[in-house]
Amino acid sequence: MAFPKGFLWGGATAANQCEGAYDVDGRGLSRMDITTAGTLTERRQVTYAYPDGRTGKGLTIPTGAHGAVLPGEYYPNHDGIDFYHHYKEDIALLAEMGFKIFRMSIAWSRIFPHGDESEPNQKGLEFYRNVFEELHKYGIEPLVTISHYETPLYLEEHYGGWNNRKMISFYTHYVETLFKEYRGLVKYWLTFNEINITIMFLEMLGGKADDAAYQQAYQQLHYQFVASAQAVSIGHQISSDNQIGCMICGIVSYPLTPDPQDIMKNRHAWEQNIFYSGDVQCFGEYPTFSKRLWDAHDVHLDITDQDRADLKSGTVDMYTFSYYMSSTTTTHAVENDAQGNFSIGAKNPYLQYSEWDWADDPAGLQYYLEVIYDRYHLPLMIVENGLGAVDKVGADGSIHDPYRIAYMAEHIEAMGKAIANGVDLVGYTSWGCIDLVSAGTGQMSKRYGLIYVDRDDAGNGTFERRKKDSFYWYQNVIQTNGAAVAVPQV
Ligand code: BG6
Repeated sequence: MAFPKGFLWGGATAANQCEGAYDVDGRGLSRMDITTAGTLTERRQVTYAYPDGRTGKGLTIPTGAHGAVLPGEYYPNHDGIDFYHHYKEDIALLAEMGFKIFRMSIAWSRIFPHGDESEPNQKGLEFYRNVFEELHKYGIEPLVTISHYETPLYLEEHYGGWNNRKMISFYTHYVETLFKEYRGLVKYWLTFNEINITIMFLEMLGGKADDAAYQQAYQQLHYQFVASAQAVSIGHQISSDNQIGCMICGIVSYPLTPDPQDIMKNRHAWEQNIFYSGDVQCFGEYPTFSKRLWDAHDVHLDITDQDRADLKSGTVDMYTFSYYMSSTTTTHAVENDAQGNFSIGAKNPYLQYSEWDWADDPAGLQYYLEVIYDRYHLPLMIVENGLGAVDKVGADGSIHDPYRIAYMAEHIEAMGKAIANGVDLVGYTSWGCIDLVSAGTGQMSKRYGLIYVDRDDAGNGTFERRKKDSFYWYQNVIQTNGAAVAVPQV
């Protein structure tokens, strides 16, 4: 299988899921720091306190209370996998695998602990500088997500987070700081992780979200689009080397039946969940179907002429996305719904599902790549893909994970087919290349890594790193630029 010369093989992480050191060196809190662990069936909760000292936990912070870290609660993101103190060892392992690129995010609250300060926290800047320098020591390019589910909690509580237009200037101040500070060290940037998820989440509620929820979600998204576009323009002014991308949660959706109503519903699902965000960020304007989406929920947006100009002048240089699974859409009653975190729709009878009910669908990745390239004609990068599974450490310390190798091999083969069909795919970063805390469930046992980390769901473990079988397999894939990708029989 021929991958283009210089193809960017690597892996991906996010600060809140791996760094730990949540209160070290001046870092402020973000929502993940007050979020407890969950399971596949129990949702993660947030903990809070009232001014009179009463405390509690639930799915949201009630009016009058503020997010608080409470004694006796377990917060898996507080320690993550302690990348903060292990980054040298971890980067050496990534280099041993032959990584060309490493996707990571910056914790906004490490740079601006509250988010509204004018001066950055020097200790935070220093940490990331050290990480970038360490990566360059091995010839690994950093790919940096500027915001990966970690807005400073202070901004949420004192300004209403992304409901407030002021967030645009807090964000651009933050990104300008990063672009200036890391000029020459970082050239690949992503503005917001899975920006489309705000709307997708509402769809996952299966019709339970009311119009007010849609109004709020579309407005938040608009402010993020403007912030992202301004960031692209600022990034280009600061360095012509900067290549700045959008990042879309790419869940492929198929009609469950050939009923024309299902075909239409599925097309509309693509428009709402995938194309809406991609079109604004790649074309610099809202697509025609936006009016239909807004009218369906009586949404009226605060959009200024300046916003429209900003969107137009800040279109992205590349389209990046996550891909784990596909889903289905139907107008018919179904009995067999996928029940996993982040998974939606009726189960597809042609696909296998993971322990977390995520559909294993490599053809869906090829489909997505071809549809998206045809639409935008921009370089594409898959910046998340992988299998969350339970791994067992053998008596001799080995970790055999043929299921992960099979999943990755099939997906890399699908990438090869899309490339052969003309798609300009420039890179692939497998998700959680080193085990980390699951975003959806807070579990450590939902492992994606090629490197195992000794840590369990209750916070026990030594943080020792071990190479899984997939480590050696991926090393070989990279060494041969994708030639040695054969799908093993599990
Ligand atoms: C993506 C997120 O949606 O899915 C990651 O960008 C996340 O942060 C990944 O970890 C996998 O989801 P989960 O719930 O298995 O961690």
